[in-house]
Amino acid sequence: MAQPRSLAGKVVVITGGGRGIGAATAEALVRHGAEVAIGDLDLAVAEETARRIGATAFPLDVTDLAGFTKFLEEVEGRLGPIDVVVNNAGIMALGPFEDESDRSTTRQLEINLHGVIHGTREAIRRMRPRGAGHIVNIASVAGKAGFPGGATYCATKHGVVGLSEAVRGELRGSGIEVTVVLPSVVRTELAAGLQDARFVKAVEAADVATAIVGALRRPRFEIYVPASLGPVNKLTRLLPRPAAEWVLRVFKGDQVLNAPERAARADYEARAAASAPTTDRDT
Ligand SMILES: NC(=O)c1ccc[n+]([C@@H]2O[C@H](COP(=O)([O-])OP(=O)(O)OC[C@H]3O[C@@H](n4cnc5c(N)ncnc54)[C@H](O)[C@@H]3O)[C@@H](O)[C@H]2O)c1
Repeated sequence: MAQPRSLAGKVVVITGGGRGIGAATAEALVRHGAEVAIGDLDLAVAEETARRIGATAFPLDVTDLAGFTKFLEEVEGRLGPIDVVVNNAGIMALGPFEDESDRSTTRQLEINLHGVIHGTREAIRRMRPRGAGHIVNIASVAGKAGFPGGATYCATKHGVVGLSEAVRGELRGSGIEVTVVLPSVVRTELAAGLQDARFVKAVEAADVATAIVGALRRPRFEIYVPASLGPVNKLTRLLPRPAAEWVLRVFKGDQVLNAPERAARADYEARAAASAPTTDRDT
């Protein structure tokens, strides 16, 4: 087997790196010697995280596409050519689908999907001429199955999986790697108030970070966290739909996004709702 790749000196960009999975990934990569740039809507949080772990913080709103491109240019100017882009910024608004406002729908599509599309395209434009690079897109198990209570969130994450698969095909032989990350519930603010599924315990942001570091060192396309969810997902896909849905109910997977503790989520939902998309700001 080939030696694992070294991450020492690699320039890594992480969107939404101020907290949660992005911050844990930034920390793990700094430990491996990478030069990490974290971009976040919440600059104060990003600066605090950057100071703590030894990264560099930048203001970033992934829905401001021109600003996103400028952020990448600034990172290149300060740290050098970008080797790795982790498209991580995302929000999750939960509730019955018919009650969701169009504003909330747009916000999730803009951050979770359009932001990832833009980040992926801009990464390829920079990496293709150099014949090297790695794009890591943070999807979710909600990108492989539909979970009641989070319909639009699931739609965005299915979009990220489809995008990553198609782009991987376009990049075959280019020297650029693509990885799509599929975590289950991760203990971050985004997951506040969620119930655990039966037999599948929530993981820590550091577990996702370890999996990402592993995929950067030995490139792999699809990584589930916890890894055991990969075979479970593949197996249920072989079943007829009623049986697959029965398995989801047995695991209580259908309850995870559908019955959150509202009070425990209130602060998070308010923060997520405040990250307004560009279209809102223009009106
Ligand atoms: N926590 C989970 O259970 C879980 C599970 C699967 C996938 N994910 C995915 O992992 C990613 C990170 O989630 P997390 O749990 O760490 O969430 P989090 O809320 O803890 O952190 C997300 C960060 O993204 C930033 N952000 C939000 N909107 C932004 C924007 N427009 N531009 C730039 N930054 C923005 C926030 O300020 C925050 O610092 C998301 O894409 C999420 O969908 C999370």
